[in-house]
Amino acid sequence: MDRILVVDDSRNVCTVLSDLLEREGYQVQVAHSYDQALDYIEGDDLSVVITDLKMPGRSGMDLLAYSRNRRPEVPVIMITAFGNIEAAVAAMKSGAFDFITKPIDDDELLNAVSRAITESEVNREIVSGFFEEDGSFSVDFIGTTPAVQEILQTVKKIGPTESTVLITGETGVGKELIARALHLAGGRRGRPFVKVHCAAIPENLVESELFGYEKGAFTGAVSSKPGRFEIAHGGTLFLDEVGEIPPHIQVKLLTVLQDTAFERVGGVKTINIDVRIIAATNKDLRSAVASGEFRSDLYYRLNVVPIHIPPLRDRKDDIIQQSEYFLMKFSAKHGRKYPEIPTDIMTAFFNYDWPGNVRELENVIERLVLMSEGPTLESTFLPQEISGPESVQETAGLRDVVGGVSRATERQMIMDALGKTGQNRTRAADLLGISRRTLQKKIKEYGL
Ligand SMILES: Nc1ncnc2c1ncn2[C@@H]1O[C@H](COP(=O)(O)OP(=O)(O)OP(=O)(O)O)[C@@H](O)[C@H]1O
Ligand SMILES: [Mg+2]
Repeated sequence: MDRILVVDDSRNVCTVLSDLLEREGYQVQVAHSYDQALDYIEGDDLSVVITDLKMPGRSGMDLLAYSRNRRPEVPVIMITAFGNIEAAVAAMKSGAFDFITKPIDDDELLNAVSRAITESEVNREIVSGFFEEDGSFSVDFIGTTPAVQEILQTVKKIGPTESTVLITGETGVGKELIARALHLAGGRRGRPFVKVHCAAIPENLVESELFGYEKGAFTGAVSSKPGRFEIAHGGTLFLDEVGEIPPHIQVKLLTVLQDTAFERVGGVKTINIDVRIIAATNKDLRSAVASGEFRSDLYYRLNVVPIHIPPLRDRKDDIIQQSEYFLMKFSAKHGRKYPEIPTDIMTAFFNYDWPGNVRELENVIERLVLMSEGPTLESTFLPQEISGPESVQETAGLRDVVGGVSRATERQMIMDALGKTGQNRTRAADLLGISRRTLQKKIKEYGL
């Protein structure tokens, strides 16, 4: 369940907000001052912080700074007085996720909370790591091979600098994980980390997405909008799939990086920016430069510190530690107890080439954890491309496998629904779209 921390010196406001949020099914913790809030922020399992700006003693801005520093994956929503736009803007610049003005509108608050939760889920998934005692950030980038150790050394050394970094590697090797770790390891932690997925933006929108536009700049520009560069001000801009940036934008990007200033599309005012650039690509940029698809001057401007993450098949020994790590993670997530990866599965892992790299390994293990019913992981639930054609014949046949999979899924869905509703069978049945009687029968059948 999502846990929300509400911080306000007014007990009244806290009660109103926690009633509202609890009615929506959130779990709420309340603190009345900066000091009281710290323990909760240090604690586990926090999805969102909502804090009042003005409090006796240390303010909501102080709390924002603390929270962004210690728990950068947790979005903070600031409550400000109506009309105090400067304060709201200052909060956003310091990394607040959103602000709500008093008097608080229920829908507006709930809407902000639900957007913030999506954000925090994404962040949590991708940033796993911890802060050392000296305050430095260690990323959970798992692996024992020299290649991985070298990457971790580089992150430690380069993270705290302002250097531009170009991360290369196939899909699923952990480029984004490393990009976020570099951001968290440096002085810009607590400031925005803004990702631009260059391949996902239609070519004619890349410029306005990056640099923003002024009202009337083109048909449909009914109001002005800041681009990703402006939003990332003070923080880090992550240019993902940078190899996909169209040639005419490459020119502008290079100029902007050199001048640290630009104009919005259709604008005349020069905007100065302070962003650190981290770029990533699964393309071979060097050959794109050779073939003229990618500008060489931009390539050199980005490739100040290169980090190459080799594919998993070239560092198969990492599979051992990684699969243990994912096994622990997903066992905890789904409330199971699996002590280890059985040998037959580990053998299959080693015989496989992993085109989807670590992401594929992660998904396969989550699936094994979800599907297996006995005390150990069952190789029957390995995808066919991993178990190999022979082992399919060894199994009980396709029909049985499919039957087993759907039963396992059904059982898991029932357990999830019961968990979500606090074991309330009527509500769980509603959630599953079946009658209460059917649910009773299945609970018995599966021995839940
Ligand atoms: N060494 C690792 N240790 C733990 N988790 C890892 C490691 N490498 C990758 N992952 C996990 O694998 C998944 C994919 O990683 P990520 O999104 O960073 O890959 P990517 O290189 O950006 O992929 P793409 O090119 O497809 O965008 C994430 O869930 C990430 O946490
Ligand atoms: Mg990525």
